[in-house]
Formats: sequence, structure tokens, C-alpha cells
Amino acid sequence: MTIVVGVTGGIAAYKAVGVIRGFVLQGHDVHVIATEAALRFVGRPTFEAISRNPINTDLYEGVAQVRHVAIGQSADLIVIAPATANTIAKLALGLADDLLTNTVLVSTAPIVIAPAMHTEMWQNAATVANIAILRERRFTIVGPASGQLTGTDSGVGRMEEPEAITAAALSVLEKSAVPERAEGPTRTAEAPGDLSGKHVVVTAGGTREPLDPVRFLGNRSSGRQGVAIAQAALNRGATVTLIAAHIEVHPPAGATLVEVATALELQRAVTDAAASADIIVMAAAVADYRPASVQQAKIKKTETHAPLNIELVENPDILAELSAAERHGRVIVGFAAETEPDTDALLTLGQQKLARKGCDYLVINRVGWSTGFVSESNEIIMLDSSGDIVMKASGDKLSVADRILDVIASR
Ligand code: CTP
Repeated sequence: MTIVVGVTGGIAAYKAVGVIRGFVLQGHDVHVIATEAALRFVGRPTFEAISRNPINTDLYEGVAQVRHVAIGQSADLIVIAPATANTIAKLALGLADDLLTNTVLVSTAPIVIAPAMHTEMWQNAATVANIAILRERRFTIVGPASGQLTGTDSGVGRMEEPEAITAAALSVLEKSAVPERAEGPTRTAEAPGDLSGKHVVVTAGGTREPLDPVRFLGNRSSGRQGVAIAQAALNRGATVTLIAAHIEVHPPAGATLVEVATALELQRAVTDAAASADIIVMAAAVADYRPASVQQAKIKKTETHAPLNIELVENPDILAELSAAERHGRVIVGFAAETEPDTDALLTLGQQKLARKGCDYLVINRVGWSTGFVSESNEIIMLDSSGDIVMKASGDKLSVADRILDVIASR
């Protein structure tokens, strides 16, 4: 397949080399369009050697061949990595002031972008609005990830790792493949699934609250149901951020993975990701309390055999906070893990929790010593915001995940 990789001017341009290499190693014909700013970060010979093709930069070179049209029409996929805030804004407006933006306007191929910028720029209302426009137009947005930024600070905005971008892009390519494209459809007709263009944020696993360097307060959540939701959302074309707290299963390829340990870390990661989320599914089991202080040395057994008291302080209720915040049309789904054996009482507990949390949907599942968290299958009841049952499902966690997404997608 012919893949056009657009590289724009950010420090993450050096990581674009890994993206290009990933496509070349998989046998694709890769053509790089680097903006002038990108070439200030990485030199032309590097892109040419890695892509094994001459690179393209200037709209006014090779005018006789109408290059932007030729490149745009030949592309089966366009990947822009890194995509700066400036380029994202130009794409949202449909501006065409360089070879890359002209090529994008000519092309009907699916487009994947990997944003890279500082947290403040990513969370700026202008960028949030531009990203929403691009999602609406079925662009696939991969990342950005959370972590160390160019300076000493860290936060969301780091370009996703090359392997993750390559994997996500190839999955878009696979889903958009052939029959319809041969008939020359619009990009909308190529939509790989009903969540295409949507950013789904899923939390999974269980948080751990440290007591001392070797001990923590935790829970038995394996993360299986959350990971299944992330996988099902990817299968339906969504861009997925998986915020994982100690998951026991592999995260799905193609999801942006943000690993967290404690409830406070999870809160920060969800808040960062929420800015661009269309759907948030809080499947993680979050600790309600954390030790008031974390000991720097291992807590020793006393000689007196007296009971040990540990003071706990309450963690923020992340789901309730997300639900109460400005939503911008975002759908918020909570989970309720309950041990109540009686179904009517279980339902009442769920309805009370829903009222406390204020989310759009609540998925109730029964947990116990051998059910729920640890098992490969699940049995759930899904309530809407008024507490009415909208769906009941049982089965393996991936099919339960799809039933949950059916409800959200039909909204
Ligand atoms: N949750 C959260 N922040 C917390 C605790 C829970 O965001 N501090 C979220 C979970 O991710 C889940 C939902 O709230 O989506 C319900 O979690 P659950 O543990 O069932 O409920 P709690 O609010 O902790 O209530 P309780 O433990 O009393 O049942």
C-alpha cells in the first residue's frame, strides 16, 4: 500500500523516523512529506534513507506533475506524525498553504494524526475544538500520551510511541480496505465502525494505595472488562485511551496506554484525557480511601502485639467529578461492583449509586470471591441516567463490552 507520512515541525519529528521505518519494514511504499519546520528538526537524508524514497517538501517543486494532486490521489493512507497544534488548526480549517495540507485536501484516503505539543496547547479551547472537528470528519487521532515533555515538565501532549502509531494506522488501513474505495466513496463511507472518529477513554484495573515501600491497599480487579471495552471500541473504529491501573491482561494494540498506580494518579490521567474524550468508561475499581501518610521505611511489627491502626483519608470520587464538570456532549459511563446477592436489592444499590454519581449510564456487576473481577465472563445490568434498565447481558467480557458499546453508540 502507498502510505504518505506527513512530518510537521515539532521535536517529536525525530520519532517520526520510527513510524516511517515501521511501515517500510511491513512492506509499504512510504512517501514522506516534511514541512520546512520539520526539516529544522530532522534532516532530509534521514527521511530519504529510512523511507527509501525521495522526500517532498515544496509545493512549488515539480509543478508540472501537479505533485500534491499526484501524491494525494496515490495515497491509501495518510499519517501525520507529529501533528503540531498549528497543522491541526490548518487541517480543521481546510487551509492549504504547503504541500502537506494541499495533499490532505486532495486525498480521499483515511487520515491518522499523532498530535504532539505541550499540555497547555493540547488543552487550549482552540485545539480541543479543532480536534473535535477532525474527529467529526473521521480523522483518527492517536494519542497524545502522558509523560515527560520537551522541557522539565510532564503531562499529556507527548507524541504516542512510533510502534503504537504504526499499529493504529495499519488497523485503520485494514478496516478501510478495498471494495468501497474502488468505487471512490467519500471518507465517511469508509468509516470502519460506528465509533469511528470518537475518542473513547477507558479506565481499567484496580488502584493501589501505598502504605510503605513494600505494601499497599488494593483490590482484586484484573482489568479484563475494561480492557475488553477498549478492544471493542478499537474494533468499532474509535481512538482509544486506556488508563490502566495494574491490569493483569495485555492492553490491546492500537490503544494509547497510560499506566497509573493510585487513585490520585488515575484522577490526573482521566482529567487530562477527558479534555478530548467523547466517551469515558470508568471500569476501574478505584480505592475510596488511601493511607493518610505513606511511611518511607517498612512498617515494623511491634513487640507489644497491640492492634495496628492505619488512618485513611478519602480519595476524590473521580466519576462524580467528571459527571458534574462541563460535559461538552461527552457520554460518561460508570461501573458498580456490588456483592449483594438479591437481584432487586442489587438494582436498588445501583440506582442509588447512579444518583450519587450523576453519570449517563451505570453498569452493575456482581462481584464475589469467584465472580466478577477475576472471571473471564461477566453478567451485567445497564441503567440509564433515570435508573431504568436499558440492557442486561451475560457472556465473555468482549461480547459484554460490545453490548455496552451498542447502547452508547445508539445514543
Ligand atoms: N469511582 C471513582 N472514584 C472513586 C471510587 C469509584 O471514580 N473514588 C468510580 C468507579 O470507577 C466506578 C464507580 O465509581 O465506575 C463506582 O465504583 P464503586 O467502587 O462500585 O462505588 P463507590 O463509589 O466506591 O461506592 P461503594 O464502595 O460504597 O460501593
